[in-house]
Amino acid sequence: MADEIKRKPIIIGNWKMYKTVGEALELVGALQKALPRLGDIDVGVAPPFTALGAVARQLEGSALLLAAQNCHFEAAGAFTGEIAPPMLKDVGCSHVILGHSERRQFFGDTDELVNKKARAAFAHGLVPVICVGELLAEREAGQTFLVVERQLRAAFAGIDATAARRAVLAYEPVWAIGTGRTATDAQAQEVHAFLRQLVGELYDGSTAAALRIQYGGSVKAENAAGLMAQPDVDGALVGGASLKPEAFLGILEYRRTS
Ligand code: PGA
Repeated sequence: MADEIKRKPIIIGNWKMYKTVGEALELVGALQKALPRLGDIDVGVAPPFTALGAVARQLEGSALLLAAQNCHFEAAGAFTGEIAPPMLKDVGCSHVILGHSERRQFFGDTDELVNKKARAAFAHGLVPVICVGELLAEREAGQTFLVVERQLRAAFAGIDATAARRAVLAYEPVWAIGTGRTATDAQAQEVHAFLRQLVGELYDGSTAAALRIQYGGSVKAENAAGLMAQPDVDGALVGGASLKPEAFLGILEYRRTS
């Protein structure tokens, strides 16, 4: 059964368009110091592109994971302003966030584009953190499952089970991102369970049991323990609260309050 498998929690800070190189190094330094006391958990940061190189150098030999916030789907080419997956790999990234709702809303990242990027990420040895989530209007219209199913099916098209089980999925209800309005534990669990069941249908039970599903949307120290206690919530994708060491550490130490 899916829930009998122990999945290692994974919490990633999505810094969005914040932090100069100096600020990034300061934040990462504080996290590195705290890392040893956090226990068996994967922790990652997703700085802006401009800080990736410097952060990667500071992270050498550290267990902190480095993620980019986006990538192009081609390996190289005349695509002014874009960053290719091999470049992310080269600079030291292991993960790349794809299909974040801000990319979908403001930069035209369609389901098809997210899929192309996800396949490119895998092809170049990066683990995609694939975001799905419904808009408030979609939730109110009772379309939550319909929307996340469409996004998940599209994102994983053409990706085999071996790759899929290594991916990270992030359920981020758009109405909860940056709004201070978090999904309740039950709302998160309900969608996570649905997504896991769907992965089981697309692949098999063992892939569904292995895949880690993060929740994202106004996660903070106060609500992290409740969310993380849900059987199908395996981590968090944290925006605002990942920008200050105390706030992010408050989430990373969720076990203290659970
Ligand atoms: P938030 O952002 O934690 O600020 O709501 C989450 C995200 O965008 O990944």
